[in-house]
Amino acid sequence: MAVLGCLQAQEPQGHVSIILLGATGDLAKKYLWQGLFQLYLDEVGKGHSFSFHGAALTDPQKGQQLMAKALETLSCPADMVPSHCAERKDQFLQLSQYRQLKTAADYSALSRDIEAHVQHKGLREAGRIFYFSVPPFAYADIARNINSSCRPGPGAWLRVALEKPFGQDYRSAQELATELGSFFQEEEMYRVDHYLGKQAVAQILPFRDQNRQALDRLWDRHHVERVEIVMKETVDAEGRTSFYEEYGVIRDVLQNHLTEILTLVAMELPRQVSSVEAVLQHKLQTFQALRVLQRTSAVVGQYQAYGEQVRRELQKPGSFQSLTPTFAGVLVYIDNPRWEGVPFILLSGKALDERVGYVRVLFRNQAHCVQSETHWAASRSQCLPRQVIFYIGHGALGSPAVLVSRNLFSPSLPSESWQELQGQPGLRLFGRPLSDFYAYRPVKELDAYSILISHLFHHRKDSFITTENLLASWLFWTPLLDSLAHEAPRVYPGGAENGHLLDFEFSGGQLSFSQQQPEQLVPGPGSAPMPSDFQVFRSKYRDSPLISAWPDELISKLASDIEASAVRAVQRSGEFHLALSGGSSPIALFQQLAHGHYSFPWAHTHLWLVDERCVPLSDPESNFQGLQVHLLPRVRVPHYNVHPMPVQLRRRLCAEEDQGAQLYAAEISALVTNSSFDLVVLGMGIDGHTASLFPQSPAGLDGEQLVVMTRSPSQPHDRMSLSLPLINRAKRVAVLVMGKMKREITLLVSRVGREPRKWPISGVLPSSGQLVWYMDYEAFLG
Ligand SMILES: *[C@@H]1O[C@H](CO)[C@@H](O)[C@H](O)[C@H]1NC(C)=O
Ligand SMILES: *[C@@H]1O[C@H](CO)[C@@H](O)[C@H](O)[C@H]1NC(C)=O
Repeated sequence: MAVLGCLQAQEPQGHVSIILLGATGDLAKKYLWQGLFQLYLDEVGKGHSFSFHGAALTDPQKGQQLMAKALETLSCPADMVPSHCAERKDQFLQLSQYRQLKTAADYSALSRDIEAHVQHKGLREAGRIFYFSVPPFAYADIARNINSSCRPGPGAWLRVALEKPFGQDYRSAQELATELGSFFQEEEMYRVDHYLGKQAVAQILPFRDQNRQALDRLWDRHHVERVEIVMKETVDAEGRTSFYEEYGVIRDVLQNHLTEILTLVAMELPRQVSSVEAVLQHKLQTFQALRVLQRTSAVVGQYQAYGEQVRRELQKPGSFQSLTPTFAGVLVYIDNPRWEGVPFILLSGKALDERVGYVRVLFRNQAHCVQSETHWAASRSQCLPRQVIFYIGHGALGSPAVLVSRNLFSPSLPSESWQELQGQPGLRLFGRPLSDFYAYRPVKELDAYSILISHLFHHRKDSFITTENLLASWLFWTPLLDSLAHEAPRVYPGGAENGHLLDFEFSGGQLSFSQQQPEQLVPGPGSAPMPSDFQVFRSKYRDSPLISAWPDELISKLASDIEASAVRAVQRSGEFHLALSGGSSPIALFQQLAHGHYSFPWAHTHLWLVDERCVPLSDPESNFQGLQVHLLPRVRVPHYNVHPMPVQLRRRLCAEEDQGAQLYAAEISALVTNSSFDLVVLGMGIDGHTASLFPQSPAGLDGEQLVVMTRSPSQPHDRMSLSLPLINRAKRVAVLVMGKMKREITLLVSRVGREPRKWPISGVLPSSGQLVWYMDYEAFLG
């Protein structure tokens, strides 16, 4: 053995120079120097010789000092003898030198020094690695200098490692890629996504490979119910908002880390997972099968303190509203025979309740056990959830792990690097005790950067992001980013207080928050928002959510909220009952609804009238005419789902004997479950009336009647109206208030209590539903 080791050590494989650009920065201090040291420990004596050049713009003396500081904290693996460690550390420090690299001449000098060193030692140059730990704006200059002045001679390779961000959207990523491509060959570039170096992530493909036999019959749409790819953080973006404000959670985490993981889980497994080309090829094919994302594929949120942090750190005016999401849940589908219809849920956010990362593959379960759970033998019951989990880190386990439900199969993992995990007693994961799983953790926990630096050295390109891969990912994400650019994210308080606020559900290819937004005040005290500064803001009015905006945005916000209610209602019960008011504001709303709301489930929508004048339905004064002209011709509502008020019966208008109000009430009772509309859209008159419920008139304000006859004090016709008790049975009521004329009543009603006899609108408060006010700036701010 000794002889063999000796022989290996003597076989010269050439000299490798590693240049760490940004050697005194945070990433270098925290991870990269340690990764290089680990590489040295792993490779020393195996034939290569090394030199390490820490580089930065700082002058040599100061830079040397800073670098020495960064190197102080190097550590050896726990199982290494301390004296041996100290010896290796000394060697490493001797091989590591600081260089100022600023100008082309500096790079030429470095190149000459490397050549001289190699010659002097009688070595052959194997290659050079440049690790870019610098901001992206510095990439081009450095790349130019390396290409023109610091390439190794013939026979030696060049590798450059690049850190994200790699652009902000498809176009900028492409520009950056083109620029880098003018300096480097594709095989010379190693784009780092450090998640690919996390042990549990790096284990996904080997695991799939080593457990082919069991997984072959499970890893597809017939067996997988859903896949969750999750990275939750408790920290927020404070101190980093100048970066974060430009990126947001989708660019920061989903576009890269979570998408990479998705491809590892979903790709067709190459026959040889050790074939770098095959892996990269199969990854690309997965991108090609991704279904295009819609606006409704995502829900986004922003933790409450974020806006204030941005204003403070970026010196924005008090009125500045950031729309940058700090939380996102996205529903991804892969349209190929293996995954058709299986939801992949990608989720990440800051200021959440826990720090954890995992990939969870949940399998379908058709078993039904008759005996109670206490009889389910030793957690192998087919009734228990069946899942495979790649636990990336943190959370309840605190370490990376691979978990397989015991009722699935007994997995095989490489025993030299993975061992059985003994958890604390009582530990539960995803609602199940740890004993439900075959659980493995790494024998040695390794930092992601150490792993990637080793893969970089060993030319394992499948652990890095190729240009094609990068652009495919941006191509996938950019349309969603564009469509979210002007959307206000849901504001969440942060931490445990988030409660169920960010929970979401999916159906029909769409994601929506499970709870309706308890809309809240975004601007803090003393920073009153100016309408011109942003599009839509939220606040409270009479203790209910208020949405305020310029008229166009307000109407389109209301239209999309109606659509969202409709989609939810149809998912829940198969139909959507919407009661609409007359008037001029609703006409703009009808026009909005008729255009551009393509996923509105019109075929399952019932349209009801909130109130009606006692005029023929064909009369221009009729509220129904508004619907008839502006909405019905453009949407495909079945005609039997349209319910005008029966104000004209037996060729007469609102005759008491015809009992029109009772007829309408009976129709509602017959068709609308519990007489509870899914959504009622109301207006507010300058006298505080709503629907056709007028001040100083008792009709319809209380009592049993669902529909009543009323009379406006100022107008000639009688009217028919939904009663206040019926309105208050609704699941959601939207009150739309627009125009300067409404300013005074808006102010007044904001202060009064519940006095429907004076101001009928003040009696609107759904007993178990939600009220939301929609006011344009003129009505609300004057
Ligand atoms: C890269 O270097 C080569 C060789 O010196 C040179 O021909 C080429 O123009 C350089 N590329 C750029 C974009 O400067
Ligand atoms: C029916 O409506 C009443 C009054 O709004 C409400 O209290 C009750 O919970 C509703 N029942 C159902 C089954 O929705």
